[in-house]
Amino acid sequence: MADGQGEARVKHVFGSSETERKLGCLRGYLSAYSIALSKQNFARVYIDAFAGTGDRTETRAVLPSIFTSNEESIEEITTPGSARIAIDTTPAFHSVALIENDPEKVGALRKIAEEYPDRRVHIREGDANAEVQRICNRYSWKEERMRGVIFLDPYGMEVSWETVEAIARTEALDCWYFFPLSGLYRNAPKDPLKLDQSKIDALNRVFGTDSWRQDWYASGEASADLLGDLFVRERRIFDVDKIEDWVHARLKTIFKGTVLKPLRLKHANGAPMASLFFAVSNPSKAAVKVASDIANHILKAGI
Ligand SMILES: C[S@@+](CC[C@H](N)C(=O)[O-])C[C@H]1O[C@@H](n2cnc3c(N)ncnc32)[C@H](O)[C@@H]1O
Repeated sequence: MADGQGEARVKHVFGSSETERKLGCLRGYLSAYSIALSKQNFARVYIDAFAGTGDRTETRAVLPSIFTSNEESIEEITTPGSARIAIDTTPAFHSVALIENDPEKVGALRKIAEEYPDRRVHIREGDANAEVQRICNRYSWKEERMRGVIFLDPYGMEVSWETVEAIARTEALDCWYFFPLSGLYRNAPKDPLKLDQSKIDALNRVFGTDSWRQDWYASGEASADLLGDLFVRERRIFDVDKIEDWVHARLKTIFKGTVLKPLRLKHANGAPMASLFFAVSNPSKAAVKVASDIANHILKAGI
């Protein structure tokens, strides 16, 4: 669509003030990480598996002022998304890989890359799971002296466990994973009779195991039915805190460096939305210290 000044930008309207916190954590980490590693002889890479358009548009209600009508109006605010934040990081990453499956958004990413002719930005239209696994498995990260950061920022339950395993196997990537708690709720109802096959498959895919079923659900107290016969009803006994701990423990089984306590992000109504996890795949003590010192500081500040 033309706007008289060339092509109109593809708007990516998503998120809330919590999204700003999430992106603030990423921004803070990329900047400190890039400074810390620039003193060492590593090729620094950044991988954005769910890159979006590079920008984020949010709509906010604007209260009427004494000079305007009494009606509340809506204003649009556009701020940098994860891809632009990464491209903008100084010192620059040697390589920024952006993956996105929506062709319109890929077009927007290409335009952003043109704004930074001195930065090495690689854009791939495709499925995040396939592309991340391909990139992770393609290099001998340690031998080629490659280190980096990967951001997993799906809308929901899109990330498969195989992808997380591929990242952990590199022993070179630090991973920020925006883990969808709301998706877990939807797929793990309190009443297991409502667990259909598509929900079970989604959870198995995200966790690479079906052990959540035994861990999260248990038989409750016996109740009597209308005819007075006793029956025992199974229920989900894990609440959000326990589920988050369970996910934390599951990630720890594959990341040899460390997995930090996540930052909980909430919906506007206070309901849990996601847990922002930070995991280090590199088992070296020095690498874990550098990465977790920076990330701990950022997560505790809660940006
Ligand atoms: C929450 S948005 C990412 C926002 C982005 N990180 C930012 O800060 O601007 C999720 C993005 O993932 C894309 N997406 C969804 N499923 C995908 C998949 N399987 N592979 C690649 N991209 C996908 C969507 O089109 C969307 O742009």
